[in-house]
Amino acid sequence: MIGAMRPVIIAANWKMNTTPADAGDLARAIAGRTREPDVVRVICPPYVCLAAVRDAVAGEGIGVGAQNVHQELAGAHTGEVSAPMLAGLATWVILGHSERRRDAGESDALVGRKLGRAVEAGLRPILCVGEQLAEREAGQAVAVVERQLAGALAGHDPATLLAAGLVIAYEPVWAIGTGRNASGADAAAMAEAIRAALRASGWGTGADDVPILYGGSCTSANIAEFLAEPSIDGALVGGASLKPDEMAGMVGRAAITAAARRAAGA
Ligand code: PGA
Repeated sequence: MIGAMRPVIIAANWKMNTTPADAGDLARAIAGRTREPDVVRVICPPYVCLAAVRDAVAGEGIGVGAQNVHQELAGAHTGEVSAPMLAGLATWVILGHSERRRDAGESDALVGRKLGRAVEAGLRPILCVGEQLAEREAGQAVAVVERQLAGALAGHDPATLLAAGLVIAYEPVWAIGTGRNASGADAAAMAEAIRAALRASGWGTGADDVPILYGGSCTSANIAEFLAEPSIDGALVGGASLKPDEMAGMVGRAAITAAARRAAGA
């Protein structure tokens, strides 16, 4: 599968880091160090920092994303944020991150409901999937990811999700925040399994249009291994995304892949 026509995306997941007082400065520093027009850049700060980041990167061509949305539109859900509330603040959203599956008990079905709300609100979803270490060691990694995908995508029309620009992030849980990244070959094999699963569930050739990112201890030092794989279209980055130098290195490397794809597709 040649990924010639898919965009190359570097998405920063700041998790529960930064404050409204310092997020704008960090976003500005990243923007200034990552001006590569062929790379899709996204920053996903905490909800309370969305406005600061939006303002800091205005005119830079950087997407701003939330890290979650609630599955209902409004109502008695103390402490939650719904997709329509993000209007004017975010145009992307991370869904089903393993830390939310762990901390908030999010199930595949719940992630699927959130996906529906995100798409209705015009948010571009980054749907996260990935296996635990024990599942990989038991040879179950592909089966787990297939189950997560099937659960989250059930009832959703592929054409609608394609039009919404669905992105899938493969993030093996054992690689997140551990300094232990997957191999490029393993990530590529999973990306191919994900596209095969989509094809088998009615997506047809649309499966080839879905960008698939790798996530899990991705840094400027190891991103080349992932971007060298034609089936991998970029990265969802946690810890390293808080460092402008690291972002510069990763986006710079992504620009090489984007240029190569452009040349191959021309
Ligand atoms: P990490 O996090 O890069 O810190 O491993 C990635 C993620 O959870 O999206």
